[in-house]
Amino acid sequence: MTWYQPINEGNLMSQPVDPTTTPAWARLTALYESLEPDLRGWFADDPSRAKSFTFTAGDLYVDLSKNLINADILSAFADLADQVGLVERRDAMYAGEHINVTEDRAVLHTALRAPEGSSLIVDGTDVIPEVHKVLAKVYAFADKVRSGEWVGVTGKPITTVVNIGIGGSDLGPVMVYEALQPYVKPGFTARFISNIDPTDVAEKTKDLDPETTLFIVASKTFTTLETLTNARLARSWLLDNLRESGAIEAGEDAANAAVAKHFVAVSTALDKVAAFGIDPENAFGFWDWVGGRYSVDSAIGTSVAVAIGPANFADFLAGFHAIDRHFAETDLASNVPALMGLLNVWYVNFFKAGSHAVLPYAQLLHRFPAYLQQLTMESNGKSVRYDGSPVTTETGEVFWGEPGTNGQHAFYQLIHQGTQMIPCDFIAIANPPHPLVDGDNDVHELFLANFFAQTAALAFGKTADEVRAEGTSEAIVPARVFPGNRPTTSIMAPELSPRVVGELIALYEHITFTEGVVWGIDSFDQWGVELGKQLALQVTPAVGGDEDALAKQDPSTQSLITYYRSQRR
Ligand code: F6P
Repeated sequence: MTWYQPINEGNLMSQPVDPTTTPAWARLTALYESLEPDLRGWFADDPSRAKSFTFTAGDLYVDLSKNLINADILSAFADLADQVGLVERRDAMYAGEHINVTEDRAVLHTALRAPEGSSLIVDGTDVIPEVHKVLAKVYAFADKVRSGEWVGVTGKPITTVVNIGIGGSDLGPVMVYEALQPYVKPGFTARFISNIDPTDVAEKTKDLDPETTLFIVASKTFTTLETLTNARLARSWLLDNLRESGAIEAGEDAANAAVAKHFVAVSTALDKVAAFGIDPENAFGFWDWVGGRYSVDSAIGTSVAVAIGPANFADFLAGFHAIDRHFAETDLASNVPALMGLLNVWYVNFFKAGSHAVLPYAQLLHRFPAYLQQLTMESNGKSVRYDGSPVTTETGEVFWGEPGTNGQHAFYQLIHQGTQMIPCDFIAIANPPHPLVDGDNDVHELFLANFFAQTAALAFGKTADEVRAEGTSEAIVPARVFPGNRPTTSIMAPELSPRVVGELIALYEHITFTEGVVWGIDSFDQWGVELGKQLALQVTPAVGGDEDALAKQDPSTQSLITYYRSQRR
């Protein structure tokens, strides 16, 4: 059973299409030049505007009507998608073609959430049974930890799992764990150590009981400096504390027995896991065709599976799959990820918007913008295309955000009245996990009223005449005018269930993919993170006092290191 279009060998374009040379781009340029943004007028003239530009994808209800678009622009989006080969690239991705050309890899996060019984042959192997084999192992482990069958070295059940990982091996798990708090087993907690700042490991372990703590070392490559350093620090913390309390004896055998009960790993490099001292029996694998920032739905999500349980994790995966199906099967005219990706291109390339805010009106999504920063910016922050040639347009806007209403009291001023256009995605849910009341007020309704009000204020603004009509003195009228026509997309869902969280992630994965296809870039490599890592290794001896290494640094770096050494106690 397959849900994707098999593609013909050779169909894959070896060269990206320059979007700026397409007829659709010329049409969009003309549409942009003649556009007179007027959301007030557009809604007044067309009472069905909200309906015409609202779409559904899975459980997501997505209102695009407060964007600077009209039917002509949407039809030009569809032409652009067609002319840059979005459908072909999408089908190539789903079919396991090596569209990550700079790493010569397939890109198959969609296979991670494909239902059991489906099939996908990649490089000669059907990967779906492999995916479900690992999932079964993760679920069995999660059940053992949750039921108390998995005990620590002193026989106590585990009450805290600590995920040690960074980038995609951290941001996804921590975001989802936070988002799905109401689904976490009572009495059970997860923590996440990522930063190589020793404060992170120290603060996150300082009140833990080593006898009831289990570490999950999550690293695709199992070479990442931060993660391996933190894993060693955690191992020392575990053994030192167990020895100090007399829970284990001194000596290597006792240490190995403790590590076996308190450390598991998730990686594509199981040999390196063994070299670290973790029994490969206690390791969960995945594959090089899963990018780090696309991996929370692989075994990298083990901490989440333990916290929320296998049934909820399966619902989470089903949510991803629902959006994968939507992206694969829905006509471009109502394909939500494709439309949202094309909208982003519209704002970045035509309106020169350099950033995009994502504003969850759901406190539990407070880490969603941070998660999206890696997904979007590590994917599309590129200056060359997948054939090595320079890009022909701006790429990779800055994604950022904070949950509403906190953001309202911080940076919304700039979004409402600043000089830059910042397209915003608002995300809200109908049913809160904690439906509290304040007197006669349903507090969730007060909260959502803010969401609705903000998108209306951004779209429709407030004219000088309206400000004057409130009796404002003329001198401060300009300061109180809201220009409006500031574009927003509103995404709503019935509740923040595991399924909906999966849907939201998959939505943004495919938005990111769509933008990358238009720009002709390889959205799945991340060479831009390498230079800093290499230099850090070269600089480390200088920081430690090696004068020769210090002499090789540039003058600014030398002076910073010298300052550090003069201050360090
Ligand atoms: O920041 C670069 C990066 O390679 C990310 O893409 C990845 O998510 C992160 O490092 C962690 O890598 P790993 O899972 O191999 O430790």
